[in-house]
Amino acid sequence: MKEEQSKINRRQFMETGVKATALSLASPLVGLAAGNSQHKKRLALVGTGSRGSIMWGKLLLDHYSSYVDLVGLCDINMKRAKFSRQYINVPVPVFHASEFDRMIAETQPDSVIIATTDCFHEKYAVRAMQLGCDVICEKPLATEAEQCQNLLLTEQKTGKKIITTFNARYGNAAEEIKRIIMSGELGRIISTEFHEYLDIIHGASYYRRWNGRIKYSGSLLVHKACHHFDQMNWWLDAEPETVYAFGDVAFYGKNHSFRSRKCRGCPFQQKCDFYWDITRDKMAMQMYVNCEDEDGYIRDSCVWDNEIDTYDTMTVQLRYNNGVLLNYSLNTFMPYEGQRIAFNGEKGRLDVRIYARQPWKTENKNEFRLTKNFQSTKTWSVKVGSGGHGGADNSLQDMLFLPGQSDPLGKMAGSRDGVLASLTGIAARTSIETGETVRIDDLVDFPLRWRW
Ligand SMILES: NC(=O)c1ccc[n+]([C@@H]2O[C@H](COP(=O)([O-])OP(=O)(O)OC[C@H]3O[C@@H](n4cnc5c(N)ncnc54)[C@H](O)[C@@H]3O)[C@@H](O)[C@H]2O)c1
Repeated sequence: MKEEQSKINRRQFMETGVKATALSLASPLVGLAAGNSQHKKRLALVGTGSRGSIMWGKLLLDHYSSYVDLVGLCDINMKRAKFSRQYINVPVPVFHASEFDRMIAETQPDSVIIATTDCFHEKYAVRAMQLGCDVICEKPLATEAEQCQNLLLTEQKTGKKIITTFNARYGNAAEEIKRIIMSGELGRIISTEFHEYLDIIHGASYYRRWNGRIKYSGSLLVHKACHHFDQMNWWLDAEPETVYAFGDVAFYGKNHSFRSRKCRGCPFQQKCDFYWDITRDKMAMQMYVNCEDEDGYIRDSCVWDNEIDTYDTMTVQLRYNNGVLLNYSLNTFMPYEGQRIAFNGEKGRLDVRIYARQPWKTENKNEFRLTKNFQSTKTWSVKVGSGGHGGADNSLQDMLFLPGQSDPLGKMAGSRDGVLASLTGIAARTSIETGETVRIDDLVDFPLRWRW
């Protein structure tokens, strides 16, 4: 990192953060991606896998085609990109990853949507901004500290904008937590707890995919926990400062007596609890198996592969710039799925329990309990929305693409939010690797004039 790059000290960094947060209520990001009847926003998509084709392809055009046009599709796997075009049912040109610049030149998008494998987000975001486009990027914004640096500097240099699509801010329960913390009912927040339980269905699926390799996903501390770190940053209106973590591959990967390359043709199908028959999933066959010969990507890889290095059990200790302490954990081999979140304030405690999938209950629900010191306790739940991720995907797309949206809870997330969430996971990973405590502002130089 060059000396002349304007590095700010901790106090300036924190002040910048406070200013940026205060600005969030009137964020210039709101409306950035929204079109109007005069000028529909032109959007190009890179990464035409599951998230790209469904959320940023089919659902986008099903609901927002009055405001946006999808003008081009790009992927490293041309067979998958062509399947995606057919699935979305949109007559647009398809480009190979090596033709990204040509796609921008020929299709002239206003914004590029990025939904590739995580480790390539930064490469496309930087190039898109250099070519004059704004960026709408799936989480995590980046998987390495150097990538965060490049994103910040390119955004500053080009004047283009990055939106990070943190849909987890948009669920009803997440919004309810934000409202309670903003209300001041708990007084000053002193410490928090966030425990994420991924079950042997959802959790295991990561180990069948590229997510099981740190080089692609940055580990689940980046790929998955970036959602939770971002939510906590947003709820607390604070920024992460110091991180210490432990993590192990203690269940999947090498921790088993037999393994194969993939579930298809595996000699242990009868006795493996984690056997998954991809041939029964029509969409997965079309999107991945039929495209395997192009890039060799195996969608039903063995969860016991010795090469798996993405931790499946993690604990993180974090101190925020306003002194709040976070105690975080993530386990990916649980018999049920959900979260436990709590805020310990001067005046009381908020407990939130999210039930996603349990063997004994199919319904998604949540329980809120607010207990005031020396007073009684009250419990309630909020409705879980319908649609992807409990309605959060629809609300995020409304905010992005419908004109005239307001954002009183400050949900729109920019580069600062994306970078801070990624850096927290990167810091935790670094702490696991080195045994050291890691300071977030040691990982990148934050540009002085850095704002949304
Ligand atoms: N916010 C959410 O709730 C949510 C949910 C799912 C996925 N995601 C994010 O969406 C992204 C895609 O995830 P997915 O589940 O669709 O994965 P996927 O494997 O189905 O799709 C990834 C796509 O990227 C393509 N790709 C890989 N390397 C590339 C490169 N160098 N250039 C161009 N294309 C490349 C692959 O060929 C594939 O089509 C990830 O970043 C993931 O974190 C977010």
